[in-house]
Amino acid sequence: MKKKRHLKKSAIISLAVLAGLCVLTLIYFLVLNKEDPYLKFRGYHKNHKEIGKVVHFESDDQDYFEAYTYPKFKEATLNNEIKAYVKEIKKEKKKENYIYTLDYESNKVFDTYISLLFTKKSYNDKQKLLNKESFTMNYDKNQKKLLKIKDVLRSNYKFQFADLFKNGNPMFLLQTSGIRFYDHEQVKDLNYNDLKSWMALKNPNIPSIAGASIPVDSMAEIDPNRAMVAFTFDDGPNSNTTGQVLDAFAREKGSATFFMLGSRALNNPEIVKRMVKEGHEIGNHSMSHANLSKGDATLINNEFFQTQNVLYEISGKEPKAFRPPYGAISELMKTIIPLPMTLWSVDTLDWKTRDTPSIVQAVMSRVQDGSIILLHDIYGTSANAIDLLLPKLKQQGYQFVTIDELNRYRPK
Ligand code: NI
Repeated sequence: MKKKRHLKKSAIISLAVLAGLCVLTLIYFLVLNKEDPYLKFRGYHKNHKEIGKVVHFESDDQDYFEAYTYPKFKEATLNNEIKAYVKEIKKEKKKENYIYTLDYESNKVFDTYISLLFTKKSYNDKQKLLNKESFTMNYDKNQKKLLKIKDVLRSNYKFQFADLFKNGNPMFLLQTSGIRFYDHEQVKDLNYNDLKSWMALKNPNIPSIAGASIPVDSMAEIDPNRAMVAFTFDDGPNSNTTGQVLDAFAREKGSATFFMLGSRALNNPEIVKRMVKEGHEIGNHSMSHANLSKGDATLINNEFFQTQNVLYEISGKEPKAFRPPYGAISELMKTIIPLPMTLWSVDTLDWKTRDTPSIVQAVMSRVQDGSIILLHDIYGTSANAIDLLLPKLKQQGYQFVTIDELNRYRPK
């Protein structure tokens, strides 16, 4: 009896252990050994991650799966941009059982730039690819900022590469051989030699037509609370008279704007360089003083962009202001010329009178804070008028500023 009971007890224990094992096996097969449905979306591509530390995050805690891979750099500005981008993606609306991934490629370009290509994908609950989007970032380590297209290409790029820009600015990726443009997932590669005339980026490894940059002498500081006036000189430079005008501004520690003809700048590059060195603004007044308002697109394009090129090649600076010859503006000009058109508020008629006292009188009778005064530095009578005008106006408290400065301190 005792033995029998003992047998019964061990049979019960054995059965219980067996049942337990069965349950564990079942759990193992049902849960633990279940094939991972997201297996092929886990991890990230190890290729094309030239620079930066890989950050990877994946989760199926929600009712969808997400896997994000992005780089981390020691450059704080770039890191913040990347974090903000990833944060936006995480915030996007997600659907049940869908899959969301982000991966990237990173390139180191000439030790100066870091370019990043992000690829964002989403898949539906059948794991079918629904959407793929690219996003680029180009970081300049020297300037500590992300580059925009206008930092990379000069102002005439839209006209030159009209097909690339017809849908707005395409995304771009700096590479060591050239620039890759993305237009709705269409990719177009242009190498740096092909882009030479349109290159705004200044880097010893990238060909460009930019002249050597000219160090600017320190200038008098502008007091926004005091009166200011912008002198503008058209149609120069002239080797006999422009120097006299520059001397007068140097004496009074003021700046002016010179709207030059490309044809005359070509013949007087040293005067253009002196303007830049002494803190004056260089402006575009067309190549040959043609009346562009009566011209077609080709004439406007040639007259404007040739002059930009001439001044850029001499000074390394891209003119930021344009004065139309004769002050004449057409609708067509506005669509082609990518700069503001600067007119004037005080016309001295110096080209007509060629009379120093009447030029002085024209200015003194009409000048006020924020005036833009029109003169021509190609006449001795005008240069003589400047010799007289600057001390007079300075005595009245005026500061002499460029168009760029006037726009900043006296915005319209
Ligand atoms: Ni003119």
